[in-house]
Amino acid sequence: MNAGISDWQVKRALPACLFSTFYSQSTLMRIIVTGASGFAGREVVMASLRRGHEVFAIGGTQLPVIPDLKRSECFDCTDEVKLQSLILDEFPQAVINCAALSTIEACEKNPDLAQRLNVDLPRQLAQLAFHVGAKLIHFSTDMVFDGQKGRYEHTDLPRPLNHYAKTKADGEKEVLQYGREHAAVIRTTLLNGNSFRGTKSLHERLFHEWSKGRKTNLFTDEIRQPVSVSNLADMAVELCERPNLSGVYHWAGAEPLSRYAIGLKVAEHFGLDAQKLIQPSERGELTKYENRPQNLSMLLHPLAGKLRTQAQSLADQLGELRVPRGCEDWFEQETGQKVVRLLQKGIDF
Ligand SMILES: NC(=O)c1ccc[n+]([C@@H]2O[C@H](COP(=O)([O-])OP(=O)(O)OC[C@H]3O[C@@H](n4cnc5c(N)ncnc54)[C@H](OP(=O)(O)O)[C@@H]3O)[C@@H](O)[C@H]2O)c1
Repeated sequence: MNAGISDWQVKRALPACLFSTFYSQSTLMRIIVTGASGFAGREVVMASLRRGHEVFAIGGTQLPVIPDLKRSECFDCTDEVKLQSLILDEFPQAVINCAALSTIEACEKNPDLAQRLNVDLPRQLAQLAFHVGAKLIHFSTDMVFDGQKGRYEHTDLPRPLNHYAKTKADGEKEVLQYGREHAAVIRTTLLNGNSFRGTKSLHERLFHEWSKGRKTNLFTDEIRQPVSVSNLADMAVELCERPNLSGVYHWAGAEPLSRYAIGLKVAEHFGLDAQKLIQPSERGELTKYENRPQNLSMLLHPLAGKLRTQAQSLADQLGELRVPRGCEDWFEQETGQKVVRLLQKGIDF
């Protein structure tokens, strides 16, 4: 190969059909994915397998069941001794941490567990990854910001408004303290996609509301930049393959939109009557929402310019979405369209 051309330039220039072959020959890794039974973790496992890597998937209480996955286990990652012996036994080249207490409500209810999962676990993983010379990818959230400014840069200072956000911001610091050279923190946002049980993602939650006959109030003045979970997973695995990229990065979709605009686009995409299903409203200065950031739009550079994976428009993300399980009859009544379930590898339909 021409010594003047880097591996990366070659990979960028390769057509997609040759890309995975090239990767599997050059950068095959043993990757441990924690939180692999969760929404993002499951997609990260599938993206890693697609790119030819060997994956050890760790769930918390539920065993990750994914086609072509050879190794999975349920495991309490807050058990520091067990986690240490697992990492030292496996000696992975990369660890992708998707385990978390991932909602505001769960963290308010169980602050101790939030501390252990969102702060202590990332610290231990950063230390262990450093010890075995592995790359660590750790997921954080746009919620570390207070939402006053919008268009957040990766260098902006976090100012968390709730306990979930505070533990995630603290977790970032731990990862960076112990892993400045070998770890990347990805702040991401509202996830689009088809979750395993059909209840986790943005459109799935809307569908379940609508199918119960409820009209959804959506804010016209709360801004988010939703990302496709499969696109996020592709980006995370590509980042693992790039040893020179470390530090804090932002990853989201290409467009910031109000929650109302997002809801309208979801309804329109599925041929549903948005006027009937969605009520626009304003959160304004209501104190009830003071722990929820208002504008979490994010700038994706410098990461967006460095990767082969590209940020997607909402229209592209909507193309991947399916009617969630349990909502088929309602959907057929509303639209007159029959839901046809295709048997897809890795998706439980
Ligand atoms: N979802 C979003 O919209 C969103 C937005 C921004 C950022 N993020 C970030 O993205 C990451 C992934 O979020 P997600 O939505 O995929 O979360 P999720 O679906 O709630 O998954 C959490 C995962 O953590 C595992 N887990 C929980 N306690 C554990 C323990 N003690 N030991 C081992 N594993 C444990 C769970 O396992 P079991 O279920 O098997 O117990 C599950 O696999 C998080 O860091 C989150 O903060 C998510």
